Amino acid sequence: MRLLRLLISAWVALSLGFINCAHAQKFPDLGKTPAMGWNSWNKFACNINEQLIRETADAMVSKGLKDAGYEYLNIDDCWHGTRDASGNIQPDAKRFPSGMKALADYVHSKGLKLGIYSDAGNATCGGYPGSRGHEYQDALTYASWGIDYLKYDWCNTKGLNAEASYTTMRDALYAAGRPVLFSICEWGDNKPTDWAPAIGHSWRTTGDIYPCWDCELGHGSWSSWGVLRILDKQAGLRKFAGPGHWNDMDMLEVGNGLTENEDRAHFSLWAMMNSPLIMGNDVRSMPESVRKMLTNKDVIALNQDPLGIQALRYLGGTKVEIYSKPLANNEWAILFLNRSDEAMEYEFRWTDNSMEDEPNKLKLNFKTRVYDWTDVWTKAVGSTTKDLNQLIPPHDVVVLRLKPRS
Ligand code: GLA
Repeated sequence: MRLLRLLISAWVALSLGFINCAHAQKFPDLGKTPAMGWNSWNKFACNINEQLIRETADAMVSKGLKDAGYEYLNIDDCWHGTRDASGNIQPDAKRFPSGMKALADYVHSKGLKLGIYSDAGNATCGGYPGSRGHEYQDALTYASWGIDYLKYDWCNTKGLNAEASYTTMRDALYAAGRPVLFSICEWGDNKPTDWAPAIGHSWRTTGDIYPCWDCELGHGSWSSWGVLRILDKQAGLRKFAGPGHWNDMDMLEVGNGLTENEDRAHFSLWAMMNSPLIMGNDVRSMPESVRKMLTNKDVIALNQDPLGIQALRYLGGTKVEIYSKPLANNEWAILFLNRSDEAMEYEFRWTDNSMEDEPNKLKLNFKTRVYDWTDVWTKAVGSTTKDLNQLIPPHDVVVLRLKPRS
């Protein structure tokens, strides 16, 4: 009898242990390619309400963004009201009078997914209620609303351990049962590459982006960064990214005041680096040139390539830098970036160059193999049998997709 009881309690302990283990993970099937979508922060900051979200959902469909692959519609900071008497988080009743469930239903009816924002501390960066101490409760609330994506910020977290805090929310989301893409936003401060790949589907590598080419904008204790500054902070990070776990270079500023050349360079670089492509402009009123850029299927295909290998910097520290990215089926993409303020006449002898992606054991050798290329922006074509001679405008890129000739 005693033995039987012992066996039963061992079995119970084992199965509980098993259940715990099964819950200690992120949703494994999400983010196999970098997330694509839209977020309210870069353009609207706290000026958000349900009408904006509904109109953005409509525009994402009518302007071909959904068809191009943009899927998540993410509400950033400032949607929050107060917690009710039981501690349940509620949306701001003035900004979101119909409630989040109705909004999620609307967004889902358009074939899109809804994302929301919270913070690991007591308060968000905007001073609204954070999830600290309410992680499991908030995760259940989000699941009941039909939320598909959570951006989880790192303000007001003094004394907290980042890995532990993000693990708690990961486990809370998993326990709530509704698949949620978990977007870690701790700005790269606590070596996220050591722990974030097992916890989230992406992690911010830097502080906030700002729509300038090469500036740092100081805010006292923190700064926001221009396109080149964020790019340069990615050094050494590529080996940590792959399907289901990406380096996040922050949301796009395309259409938010950069020049057209800069927009093209910014978008191409984020695509090559496998950063999530989360638009940050007003897609309801964007000019056609911006719409065309954001829906360039050939550029998006580089970002969404199933191999999921981030570009490497082949040539750096020069006015014209070169990035290359292995793609599925032995194809490659090559990006020439003109960082400088003058147009650059750039000659590139294919056969003088061979590119190696050491960790992935992949080589691009133009002496032994001929590649046909297509310019993903101009659609011009050529091959590596002929040297390249190109004029790259200032703050712009040339991006070629290379296919081995059989
Ligand atoms: C932080 C994040 C931004 C944005 C704001 C909102 O700064 O890094 O992306 O979410 O908070 O307050």
